[in-house]
Amino acid sequence: MPPTPTPIPTPRAAAAKAYTPPPPVGPDVLRLDANEGPAPTPEALAALCARLTPDTLRRYPDTRALEHALAARFNISPDRVLVTAGGDEAIDRVCRAYLEPGRELILPSPSFEMIRTYAALAGATTIEVPWWTPTYPLDPVLAAITPRTAVIAVVSPNNPTGATATAADLRALAAAAPNAVLLVDAAYAEFADNDLTPAALERPSAIVIRTLSKAWGLAGLRVGYALGNPDLIARLRAVAGPFPVAATSLALAAQRLATGQADVDRTVALVRREREELARLLTSLGAAPLPSQGNFITARFAAAASVHAALLARGVSVRRFSSPALSEHLRITCPASPADFSRLSAALTQTLTETRRP
Ligand SMILES: Cc1ncc(COP(=O)(O)O)c(C=O)c1O
Repeated sequence: MPPTPTPIPTPRAAAAKAYTPPPPVGPDVLRLDANEGPAPTPEALAALCARLTPDTLRRYPDTRALEHALAARFNISPDRVLVTAGGDEAIDRVCRAYLEPGRELILPSPSFEMIRTYAALAGATTIEVPWWTPTYPLDPVLAAITPRTAVIAVVSPNNPTGATATAADLRALAAAAPNAVLLVDAAYAEFADNDLTPAALERPSAIVIRTLSKAWGLAGLRVGYALGNPDLIARLRAVAGPFPVAATSLALAAQRLATGQADVDRTVALVRREREELARLLTSLGAAPLPSQGNFITARFAAAASVHAALLARGVSVRRFSSPALSEHLRITCPASPADFSRLSAALTQTLTETRRP
């Protein structure tokens, strides 16, 4: 018998680890483990779906209408907007366009894990700078800049800590590394006191990444976008396929953008109130919440693994992390629903009262 041929992956592919989603849970479990936004009402969904036509399915997708709508929102020209398959794909495109072996990404960490993954797939070296403060670690990042620095990540609000950067940080980074791309990941910008997008759009080396997955509650559609100067956006457009987002998603997203702003405003107001209340509750129960500007709170617990399991047993799923730096932390998404927030509060109170009992 000849040996079975075994295709050999490239070293980068061999080293890559697949993203591990939170484990599946039953339909009755309250899922606060993925920082998603609230679902549209059934009526809103029906109104969105009424926009679909047979041609939506038959034709190849065209992102231009959505890109024009987004450009109008940010008061910029459409050649400064690229619609992508979630913020994820925008990050991937930045890494493909600006990273390669011998180039470096500076990534304040912990942060959104896909940034490191895409940088590794592009063959670049990631230089991690610790980031546990509520403000961006500007001086350590400046100190990490070398002639090989090609991308500097500014994830604000940061996932999972909820910390933020400022326009002054962007100015200082751009001045210190004028040839590096500032990857301004603003996936949670709607929930923050300050949105860095306008300041980033003034910097020719910045690419802003945004998404409809969070405040807009449309993670299942996979619609995100990159904003930046036309030359950078043209590069991002060139480094991947022409039809990354399904036409159904583009149509539903465009309609939701046109009609859903009031719902988003309500979501954001509710999340901001829940975020404050959750931080107070966690502190009163002996956990250590990090100050957050996102739609989530990450907190350190005396026994994170057993708190996670006990919450799940009470029907609430929150996020655990595999990285050792976060092994004592859990991330809890604000549900944007008074009923679900009561459920979360009761489960946390029972669990933490129980685990603290001698
Ligand atoms: C900081 C950050 N950026 C980008 C994303 C990507 O989101 P999506 O691909 O759903 O737009 C996420 C998702 O969790 C995130 O936390």
